[in-house]
Amino acid sequence: MANEIAFAKDLSLAYDSREVVLRDLSFSINEGDLIFVTGASGSGKSTLIKAFYGAVAPIKGYLRVGGVKMPADSKSSIDRLRRKLGIVFQDYRLIEEWSIERNIALPLYIAGYDQKRIKDQVEKLLKHVRLTHRRDRFPQELSGGEQQRVAVARALSHNPMLLLADEPTGNLDDFSAQLVHELFMAVNQLGKTVVIVTHRMPSIAGVNYRHFRIDEGRLVEINY
Ligand SMILES: Nc1ncnc2c1ncn2[C@@H]1O[C@H](COP(=O)(O)OP(=O)(O)OP(=O)(O)O)[C@@H](O)[C@H]1O
Ligand SMILES: [Mg+2]
Repeated sequence: MANEIAFAKDLSLAYDSREVVLRDLSFSINEGDLIFVTGASGSGKSTLIKAFYGAVAPIKGYLRVGGVKMPADSKSSIDRLRRKLGIVFQDYRLIEEWSIERNIALPLYIAGYDQKRIKDQVEKLLKHVRLTHRRDRFPQELSGGEQQRVAVARALSHNPMLLLADEPTGNLDDFSAQLVHELFMAVNQLGKTVVIVTHRMPSIAGVNYRHFRIDEGRLVEINY
């Protein structure tokens, strides 16, 4: 059996119990999956992503992520979960005062890696996102597409079990968006489990993926 990354059964999510955003979701996500999540604005895509990292608690049903049952019962289990996740947002969220290199290393500083390991890992990631030549620059000196590649490298730096991305291409032109989507697909090809929220499905060829569509509070998996 494939390794379970996340599992939901009859899961409902809400900010306020009078207004349920997502109801009765059931799905399982296995190691190596590449999942695109689509749906109209306000349908609940970000809410689903937030549930994965423990920022929205289930109001009903069951959700388990990385072996942690949600809502996590202690600060330490939520910390344990978050160390297993890499998250990318639409607006990059880089530290403006820090170089590209330091931004990528941030999760490694937090995890307490030694200097040598940080240096090696950052080197590898810079190469992977093709930004070695920009390593000493600052976020403002990079294009949106380049900044998003930095955010992807940062999200991957501590080798997370699951990479979550909430509309990572929302601020990018078509060309940069395609590059960023291709980066996620390349990361998935290396075995990483990836969940990406997107407004539009990218053009995909020769890659296995799943498509979750959110419609009127329900999650439907589209089978091609
Ligand atoms: N912090 C919050 N408190 C209360 N309601 C919220 C909160 N965040 C979102 N909502 C509501 O939950 C619903 C789903 O929002 P969500 O952000 O998940 O949508 P989305 O699919 O990500 O939309 P978009 O494509 O515009 O990003 C919306 O009705 C929204 O108003
Ligand atoms: Mg959203």
